[in-house]
Amino acid sequence: MSGTRPVRVVLSVNAFSVALDEARSAGATVGLVPTMGALHAGHRSLVERASTECGCVAVTIFVNPLQFDDPSDLAAYPRDLEADLEMLAGAGAHIVFVPEVSEIYPGHPYPPATTVRVSGASDDLEGRFRPGHFDGVATVVTKLFAMAGRCRAYFGEKDFQQVAVVRMLARDLCMPVEVVACPTVREPDGLALSSRNVHLAPDDRRRAAVINRALTAGAAAVARGEDRPARVRETMLRVLATVPGVDPEYAEIVDALSMSVPERLTGEVRLLVAARVGDVRLIDNVGALVGVDVGPYAMSSKEISA
Ligand code: PAJ
Repeated sequence: MSGTRPVRVVLSVNAFSVALDEARSAGATVGLVPTMGALHAGHRSLVERASTECGCVAVTIFVNPLQFDDPSDLAAYPRDLEADLEMLAGAGAHIVFVPEVSEIYPGHPYPPATTVRVSGASDDLEGRFRPGHFDGVATVVTKLFAMAGRCRAYFGEKDFQQVAVVRMLARDLCMPVEVVACPTVREPDGLALSSRNVHLAPDDRRRAAVINRALTAGAAAVARGEDRPARVRETMLRVLATVPGVDPEYAEIVDALSMSVPERLTGEVRLLVAARVGDVRLIDNVGALVGVDVGPYAMSSKEISA
């Protein structure tokens, strides 16, 4: 951590809450960045954004077992705390909360009695292919919000449906949290950065770029005025089919606000793809405006739902 200000690492819920209370008492706005670690430039962009807007930036690193529907996915999830702390110090974080599982879920391995489910927003897309995933996300994010108190919380559009779920729970549970959505950070070939990319074999890494090409092709069709969801879906699936070893789970286009598929597309829409590339499941999405060429990732969900 040479050359950068060290971050303060806290391990307990109580120490975390007290640290943020103190920051607020000293007049700082708290910026909260929840993560599961194995940090990359996408996470870093959230921390940097928070540090331009908030006097105290708190990052949480917790691989949340409740949101993994597949135990082997949980076991294989990459972890590198030392590298994470070094990056966070350089990105402007002040406090890093790194709890043990038993600190967040005292009854672990028994499931918690109280969980949070956001119906509607959790049900389709990822919800269909990863049953229970968003209940795990909603439960842990609610707990982190409860510990953190009043704050601005930064999430990536990379997980577009997650942002919708988190906004909804913050609103429904009257949490004093302003949810801020930040644009997706990509590799030069368009692949969205993800902690899971380290598991891609070199050939699969090259193949994975087709996901963004499919989204971009779909967004271009929308920009040209295509308003039939089935046609946009076909465009994306056609592009995905050009690369062997890429197995789509869904290629969907939804209204950006309601997250549902209308009969005809209008206004702001979101195109979303989930695909398995080799053994690795990847997701990505881009925004588009029907009949308007704004470029595939020119919009942020913050603007959409503001
Ligand atoms: P994780 O996958 O670690 O992501 C933490 C945050 O980083 C999320 O808000 C995610 O959308 C954002 N992010 C990931 N890749 C990004 C990229 N390429 N560009 C911009 N932002 C990116 O998402 C989770 O953890 C968990 O579900 C969590 C919210 C922490 C709850 O456990």
